[in-house]
Amino acid sequence: MNRHVQFLLPFGSIGCSIFRLILFEGILYILKVAVSPPYFRFPSRPLLVTGGAGFIGTNFIIEWLKNSAATILNIDRLSYGNRCNVENIMESSKYFFAQCDIGDLEQIKALLAEHRPVAVINFAAETHVDRSIRSPENFVQTNVVGTLRFLEAIQSYFRALPDKEKDVFRFVHVSTDEVYGTLSLQEAPFEETSPFCPNSPYAASKAASDHFVRAFGQTFGLPVITTHCSNNFGPFQFPEKFIPLMIHNALKGKPLPIYGDGEQIRDWLYVTDHCSALCRVLEAGRIGETYNIGGNNELRNVDVVQVLCDILDRRKPLSHGSYRSQIEHVEDRPGHDRRYAVNSKKMLEELNWSAKETFFSGLTKTVDWYLSHWDWMEQITGSSFQEWTDYNYGNRTRAQA
Ligand code: DAU
Repeated sequence: MNRHVQFLLPFGSIGCSIFRLILFEGILYILKVAVSPPYFRFPSRPLLVTGGAGFIGTNFIIEWLKNSAATILNIDRLSYGNRCNVENIMESSKYFFAQCDIGDLEQIKALLAEHRPVAVINFAAETHVDRSIRSPENFVQTNVVGTLRFLEAIQSYFRALPDKEKDVFRFVHVSTDEVYGTLSLQEAPFEETSPFCPNSPYAASKAASDHFVRAFGQTFGLPVITTHCSNNFGPFQFPEKFIPLMIHNALKGKPLPIYGDGEQIRDWLYVTDHCSALCRVLEAGRIGETYNIGGNNELRNVDVVQVLCDILDRRKPLSHGSYRSQIEHVEDRPGHDRRYAVNSKKMLEELNWSAKETFFSGLTKTVDWYLSHWDWMEQITGSSFQEWTDYNYGNRTRAQA
């Protein structure tokens, strides 16, 4: 071998290795992009989450930051109770927070221009049925007017995006199964094609917002997808809702107020199962479609409270007796829907998703979370919570079991 070739050989083999490495990395990158969610094509751009300081939004962001490299921009107006939820996730470098109402068109437009999100998931809403009975108009303002203004801002942002960014952009709107109304015991669970028949001001306001989302898809070509979830439960849920209220009252030695006969049925969905479903929808849901997301855990309210008391009896036993002795039946909620249940077959067949948590495993995790985060509970149950419980429960008469 001549000296010239000998001299080049080591460089040749290193060069060859480097070339192979680059080729390998290149193929790997192409494969990664091909199989990863569409928004990953713009890794430096955030996913915009609205209402990310609320119960489901907080859980969604925590799960997202655990499992994804992409960043999050959370826009939340921080209404009652949820300021401390944001503080829990503030530290991540992949997380940006802006205090803003979704109905504040100018501020939303400025945030969109600054952060240039790659997709949107819209959790922001007023969600408590009892509060909607007290003040329906608040629900129209946030859920209907707020969503409409937000859609307008998103629509003008979307229109100006380059085509390749338009291709991956999605507007995922998180709604509820309550828009379908109520079921009898004999009826099959609601499907995506079931007609809307909302019975509470809350459900009516969500139905109206769902219609606006659909209309922006049809009229302006916004790539929208709507989801309808069943009753969520898990960490960070404000104790105005059934399960955390019962945990709160049980541990405070207060009555556990079951509305009416307690025979109403809800389909309970553990919140992280809901979050994984939403990720699938974002990744692979079809534009213009709606998806039902249920937990496949239908239970009567009385049974929910009894199972909860049994878990508490084991986890934090009373000096004598059971938490069950605190159960009281109280005057029913007006217009109380008898049964909710959704058929999630479409999520399974199209997106290969189904709920993983059983009601019992989810409830045990939930109880354990509240027990180990009691300071959180104390922080959010200040004077406005007291005002709410006095209003909602103070004058309710006792009812028959
Ligand atoms: O189905 C999804 C919906 O589930 C969500 O869209 C709503 O945001 C969420 O609030 C929930 O609606 P519900 O009215 O079913 O949830 P809530 O936790 O208020 O009540 C659950 C059941 O428990 C319901 O039948 C009413 C009953 N209940 C509730 C409270 C607060 C009681 O018996 N006593 C109570 O004190």
